[in-house]
Amino acid sequence: MTSFPTAAKLTVIAVAIVGATGVTARHAAAAASVAVVPQSAGDPVAGRTLYQACTGCHSLDENDVGPRHRGVVGRKAGTVPGYAYSAALRTSGMVWTPANLDRWLTNPQKVVPGAKMYFSVANPKQRADIIAYLAQQR
Ligand code: HEC
Repeated sequence: MTSFPTAAKLTVIAVAIVGATGVTARHAAAAASVAVVPQSAGDPVAGRTLYQACTGCHSLDENDVGPRHRGVVGRKAGTVPGYAYSAALRTSGMVWTPANLDRWLTNPQKVVPGAKMYFSVANPKQRADIIAYLAQQR
């Protein structure tokens, strides 16, 4: 029985540590989610609808006015076989990360001067949604 108060005290200390750690972890998670919002907030379902704006020139599986899109997220720019890219995009050396796609859709010619896509999406949320949709088209 003499050990009971000690065990109780240890339990109190452990709960206090877990509580403190929990707060720290929540704060860290909140900070992390703020940092990744531009890339992670996209809604792929909304993006699917918004992608209709791209289909005047692109499709997922056929080269058209623009190159086909399936698998574009993570791909090196200007590398779809059978599509006649501008020299600027073909030699850009860029990889289509979500961040680069966001910059591209904001203003293609600013990202790759000499690129021949004349279309942009001004709304950041819509860009994120479209990128989330494209990321699912593996
Ligand atoms: C008016 C026609 C047009 C529209 C609309 C258009 N694009 Fe493009 N897109 C192009 C052309 C042309 C290229 C090739 C650019 C080059 O070779 O410089 C291209 C290239 C791209 C590339 C580079 C792909 C690669 O293989 O490197 C991406 C990504 C892209 N477009 C995304 C989009 C998205 C997403 C939309 C809709 C929000 C869109 N485009 C709307 C014409 C268009």
